[in-house]
Amino acid sequence: MRCFTICCSRDASSPTRQRVNIDAEISDVENAKLYSYKELKIATDNFNPANKIGEGGFGSVYKGRLKDGTLAAIKVLSAESQQGVREFLTEIVVISGIEHENLVKLYGCCAEEDHRILVYGYLENNSLSKTLLGGRYSGIQFSWKTRTKICIGVARGIMFLHEEIQPHIVHRDIKASNILLDKDLNPKISDFGLAKLFPDNQTHISTRVAGTIGYMAPEYASRGQLTRKADIYSFGVLLMEIVGGRFNTNKRLPSEDKHILRRAWRLHEQGDLVHLVDTALEGDFDVDEAHKYLKIGLLCTQEKPNNRPSMSSVVRMLTGEMVVDEKTISRPGLMPQFAPMESSQSNISYTSSPGSGKKDMLLSSQNTTMTYATMSYTSIYDRSN
Ligand SMILES: Nc1ncnc2c1ncn2[C@@H]1O[C@H](COP(=O)(O)OP(=O)(O)O)[C@@H](O)[C@H]1O
Ligand SMILES: [Mg+2]
Repeated sequence: MRCFTICCSRDASSPTRQRVNIDAEISDVENAKLYSYKELKIATDNFNPANKIGEGGFGSVYKGRLKDGTLAAIKVLSAESQQGVREFLTEIVVISGIEHENLVKLYGCCAEEDHRILVYGYLENNSLSKTLLGGRYSGIQFSWKTRTKICIGVARGIMFLHEEIQPHIVHRDIKASNILLDKDLNPKISDFGLAKLFPDNQTHISTRVAGTIGYMAPEYASRGQLTRKADIYSFGVLLMEIVGGRFNTNKRLPSEDKHILRRAWRLHEQGDLVHLVDTALEGDFDVDEAHKYLKIGLLCTQEKPNNRPSMSSVVRMLTGEMVVDEKTISRPGLMPQFAPMESSQSNISYTSSPGSGKKDMLLSSQNTTMTYATMSYTSIYDRSN
């Protein structure tokens, strides 16, 4: 049984209260194995930098071997960060006990004294952001077939979260660095620090806007109204990245190509969407299928959330069980800094989020005639690494 409330104290001046709440929360969650700090220290050779396999917003991730011989990824959260404590608890509460072939497995955690550590199943091929998108140094060849397998796997993982499990879960941070790959390049969704449980009778959750700029649905960024369609938007961006072999944003490109969705829309209008496909494939791909995948990416990122398909429809379209209705494709939605006429219409400034050590982004748009007419001021907790 999972516990559905997260009541971590936000009172930074009260470490005792915070401690009590963490202990109470963790003890409520069945299936979460508790590890001793000593065991994790031994497993990672005293958190030896040589064993470091990743760095996220809230700390370092180490490869380690547990007492029973199992390899694990051990994520150590920074002790000072209040945000980190909340994400630590969310992650345990949301995914303890959940098993799906496209979700990372949480083995358990350690909350001894000030230590907050999460222990996951180790995945041999790190993240999509490090391998497929982050330079080709990994040596892995991502064939067209592998890319389709990854897209379908991620879509199935999200479908499970959105439609199969109760209460439903909105991940809120679907992106390349949160998609891990096992030894056979099967994808697993990870990092549930921002996830929200979503009871069936609720149409949306009003929440502080958090996620990663570039993957964030514009209506969520502007109004903070969270629905499953925000994940579907992020998935659409990720799909484009996987097919295109590039990160969604490339600041060195001219503004009309800077964000992959703008480039995709321009190519689509010119009838040349396939031009977006990664040149590293050297033409060795199924043109019709690639075209279809990119159109699904456009559908997922439609401006109006209601025009985006559900995740089960996405899975059926990707696998060929459902046709893609081209007529419903119109211009994708984009946050103002990526949209045309951005510089004259919007101001963007950064503020600091207390305790998190991360940047918040403050957006304002004076535009009253365009898409972003309703966007006033929104404080966004941006999780870009
Ligand atoms: N189970 C795992 N196996 C292998 N590498 C992992 C694993 N979990 C995390 N990593 C690596 O650590 C990075 C950060 O992990 P993540 O859980 O996304 O942390 P954060 O919440 O700080 O973003 C990932 O992008 C990946 O490179
Ligand atoms: Mg992450």
